[in-house]
Amino acid sequence: MTATAESKRQRGLSDAEVAREVDHLLSQMTLEEKAGQMTMVENNSIEPAQVAEYFIGSVLSGGGGNPTPNTPENWRAMVCAFQKAALETRLAIPLVYGVDAVHGHNNVRGAVIFPHNIGLGASRDVDLVERIGQVTARELLATSVHWTFAPSVSVPQDLRWGRTYEGYSADSQLVGELGAALARGLSGRCSDDGGSVLACAKHYVADGAAEWREDPVAEDAPQQGSTAPPQDSEIPQAEDLSLGQWRIDQGDARLDEASLRETHLAPYQAAIAAGALTVMSSYSSWNGEKLHAHRYLLSDLLKSELGFDGLIVTDWMAINQLDPDYQQCVAQALNAGIDMVMVPYDFRRFISTLKAAVRQGDVAQERVDDAVRRILRVKLALGLFDQPIADKSLLESLGCAAHRQVAREAVRKSLVLLKNDNQSLPLSRDLPRLLVAGRAADDIGLQCGGWSITWQGEAGATTTGTTILQGIRATASDSTDIVFSPDGQFEDDARAAVGIVALHEEPYAEGFGDRADLSLSPEEIALLQRVRGRCDRLIVLLITGRPRIISEQLPLIDALVVAWLPGTEADGLADVLFGDCPFTGKLPFSWPRSMDQIPLAALRASAEAPLWECGYGLTS
Ligand code: GLC
Repeated sequence: MTATAESKRQRGLSDAEVAREVDHLLSQMTLEEKAGQMTMVENNSIEPAQVAEYFIGSVLSGGGGNPTPNTPENWRAMVCAFQKAALETRLAIPLVYGVDAVHGHNNVRGAVIFPHNIGLGASRDVDLVERIGQVTARELLATSVHWTFAPSVSVPQDLRWGRTYEGYSADSQLVGELGAALARGLSGRCSDDGGSVLACAKHYVADGAAEWREDPVAEDAPQQGSTAPPQDSEIPQAEDLSLGQWRIDQGDARLDEASLRETHLAPYQAAIAAGALTVMSSYSSWNGEKLHAHRYLLSDLLKSELGFDGLIVTDWMAINQLDPDYQQCVAQALNAGIDMVMVPYDFRRFISTLKAAVRQGDVAQERVDDAVRRILRVKLALGLFDQPIADKSLLESLGCAAHRQVAREAVRKSLVLLKNDNQSLPLSRDLPRLLVAGRAADDIGLQCGGWSITWQGEAGATTTGTTILQGIRATASDSTDIVFSPDGQFEDDARAAVGIVALHEEPYAEGFGDRADLSLSPEEIALLQRVRGRCDRLIVLLITGRPRIISEQLPLIDALVVAWLPGTEADGLADVLFGDCPFTGKLPFSWPRSMDQIPLAALRASAEAPLWECGYGLTS
């Protein structure tokens, strides 16, 4: 039984009834209405009236595509305005609104933001990830958003990739288990009968196997969020190619089909079996062929061989990379098996081009009908025709204490203790003084990382939550003098038995996070040394989207904890640092000794073992 039919069965409709409903609707639709259903537009490039005029099937918010002011109520008003317009069309086919809720409803100020996937990989807790999916679904539905472009079921092979943290692990089986758990959590009916949410397994396929390229990247960094439609010349180039930006993301994965199936396809099978009704194709290529035009992988393998009967959606403006001629882009993508196109700006151009392609025989009417049939089937399976606008009472639960407790639990379980000499951890509550240093110890934006309120994420008090320092202050005894300095410049005589330093990566998303060198920066090393000189036992907390090269600094460190990108509930760190809860996290990736052991292939070929193996983690 396919996931879609199964999902409809849960609502009492047989496969045959689903098929009849879909075919009845399809038989009434004009080419304009069909083309509209295949069109996904970003929210700043269309008005509700145009959604009705062009029969648009989906609207999305790219990273940071937030209403102003960015409040849950305003989000709900924005989404409902688009939906009401769609329901005014002749056939009243509801639109489906999509966002990147990749670690909670992370665009919305006040929503709970969970640890990024790499931290959940460290938790290895399938039940926890399913509950995260359920909480995320409730917070999405509070704003009447019915589709998230998650889980990412990438299997990152090269830690230099800026999307490593969006992957659960380099262990494909763990990725499948956790991706399936999130899909189950998202897709299960929301208990308040606010409906359920579409999961989207991405980015199909083998995006995590793209190889580092020495040549300056050709692609313009795609725009996201609340930007106006850029003129081609305005699309910004990578900010700093010397850092290595855009040298791996959207690249070419060179591997044989057996490896692709075993490592990179398997998590999709798990996520689809668990209820994911949509798949997003990858910007990347396989052995030189772009995924967005890859008929074998999209149609023959995913749809025919695996029987996937949901819909395949493109990535942001991705088809534009296929050919200099836009009609060829449209034809190549649709003929390969794409069903919905994330345009996302010039929807009129896409629709007119698609109609021309059909008229001129570049795209068969049957292919359009198949795509629209899939879109309608997914919307029916989602229950969108029954309840296109989710229950408003869910707004009360967005960001609630119970949801934050799930996130705090996730933070605790994500922490990995890599070194603990001189009984440094757990901390005593009777410490007379505790030095705490590092900007990331007291900065919500830094602890959340990319895909948080804005596309790239940013430092500062970007949303509500609890910082690491606030958690420490709330947990330590009143008698402990906690002295905080963001840059480790304490007053002359400041010394303490214990010093804590939080080191961090500046937030990033996608290719902006590609890095040639993962070593600690000179500033991070100087900060660490400043505190080293003022304490007997030095504890380092790494706020990071991936393992960093820390071998040289390790002798200076008594205890080393990797906290990944914990999200808004960083008081979970204090729960473990002070021993109220144990360290249980295990590394989801091997930890390289040096850059010579990156990518994974180099590590496997290396004569030396990594600093720590995947699966390593001390308990306390
Ligand atoms: C981005 C990302 C993808 C995301 C999409 C919509 O470029 O590649 O993960 O879902 O665009 O924001």
